[in-house]
Amino acid sequence: MSPKQPPAFPTGFLWGGATAANQIEGAFLDDGRGLANVDLCPSGDARMDVIRGRNTPLALQDNWFYPSHEAISFYKQAEADIELLAGMGFRCFRFSIAWTRIFPTGTDSTPSQEGLAFYDRIVDRCLEYGMTPLVTISHFDCPVALIKEIGGWGSRSMIEHYTRLCSALFQHFKGRVRHWLTFNEINMILHAPFLGAGVIIEDESLATSTIYQAAHHQLVASALATKLAHEVDEENQVGCMFAAGSAYPYSCRPTDVWAAREVDRDSYFFVDIQARGAYPQWAINKLSAENALPEFAPGDVELLAKYTVDFISFSYYNSRTVAGPDSDAVVAKGNLMKTAKNPYLEYSQWGWPIDPLGFRITLCDVYERYQMPVFVVENGLGMRDELAEDGEIHDHERIKYLADHIGAMRDAITIDGVEVMGYTSWAPIDCVSAGSGQMSKRYGYIYVDLDDALEGSGARKPKDSYYWYKKVIASQGSDLSIP
Ligand code: BG6
Repeated sequence: MSPKQPPAFPTGFLWGGATAANQIEGAFLDDGRGLANVDLCPSGDARMDVIRGRNTPLALQDNWFYPSHEAISFYKQAEADIELLAGMGFRCFRFSIAWTRIFPTGTDSTPSQEGLAFYDRIVDRCLEYGMTPLVTISHFDCPVALIKEIGGWGSRSMIEHYTRLCSALFQHFKGRVRHWLTFNEINMILHAPFLGAGVIIEDESLATSTIYQAAHHQLVASALATKLAHEVDEENQVGCMFAAGSAYPYSCRPTDVWAAREVDRDSYFFVDIQARGAYPQWAINKLSAENALPEFAPGDVELLAKYTVDFISFSYYNSRTVAGPDSDAVVAKGNLMKTAKNPYLEYSQWGWPIDPLGFRITLCDVYERYQMPVFVVENGLGMRDELAEDGEIHDHERIKYLADHIGAMRDAITIDGVEVMGYTSWAPIDCVSAGSGQMSKRYGYIYVDLDDALEGSGARKPKDSYYWYKKVIASQGSDLSIP
């Protein structure tokens, strides 16, 4: 493929980057912010159990280190950071709302004015620079007070608390924010129920039913949020968001092919409901057989059917390779999900497969299945970055990853006809990793001088990829050449 081709990306294509409140903001108790589930997730060995809701303490532990508490201090320097993003020519900035900045306990009767004022600063700055704000209402975020009182999303009354948050946001940002995502990576609840839904698994034998009941509450809440968003402003566009990455069978053995299909079905379960409006029959059969079919309240079926999303967004980091029972496949790492090692792919420093063609396959799979506009709201390479002797950060590997993936997306658009609204890579500025809690797993175009203990000057510095992505955006994706 020649590096220079006529522009393939439609006018209005939303180039940008994506972040999440708990991974950038810090200032976790400033200006009345309440404690959230993400503030209880330590870095280090204990993190995985905590985010999976296994033995999760609901109080801060003296000997644990919590990276969300300080993160990269975006709360204190949002304006300067957004100016750096604007310097790349961003047309879109995806960020999330920290629920407990707006409603510190989740049950407060009125929204916090300080909390809203902080997000005003972000939104207004974005608009000044001509960047479309893309707001995730809940990115792995749940008030601890609600977890203690009602068990997080395990309780149906979470729907009311969440829709009160939505209502406050839709009213307050009316006319300024028009692109909303209801829940980040909603399917992650299956793997990390505490992170995704503030759910703690007390009894392992009830894990499946507990998780699917919480998921049902989020799905109903998402439908109601879509309804509300359209009522407040008919120009509002609401998307679902799921962790994508099509599943390959480890071999052509039918049991491997079937196992891969089951993995895909589990991910699409959520989108089937949010985009098509109903539980797929296989899920009803399977969950009933396992005694785990969620309880539906009267009216839920109609709500889910009526208030489907306007577009489908997803994160793509890697494809998955799936082996059936009795396979000799070796397990590899992936985005919180275990998969088999794919011998045809290279792996990142954190053991995640690198598969640009898998990105095109995923784009086609999603679009052909739902025939709705898609928005890629996360994609990127987590790697270590070092300052070179010349004082610069030459992140060639990241540039290569991004060039290959954006090239694959261009093929999906120009050859396969996939309708893509935009691309916000994860994360334009180095931030705390959701899976590991480390700073050293960096994704940014902008380096942040902090180590895993969050020690350092915190200074920001553009990497080589910063200038490269700027050129990609300026050329409307036609110049993907690598220096
Ligand atoms: C997605 C999340 O799962 O992947 C982000 O939406 C996360 O919050 C990103 O940061 C990358 O994962 P990690 O574990 O490398 O930070």
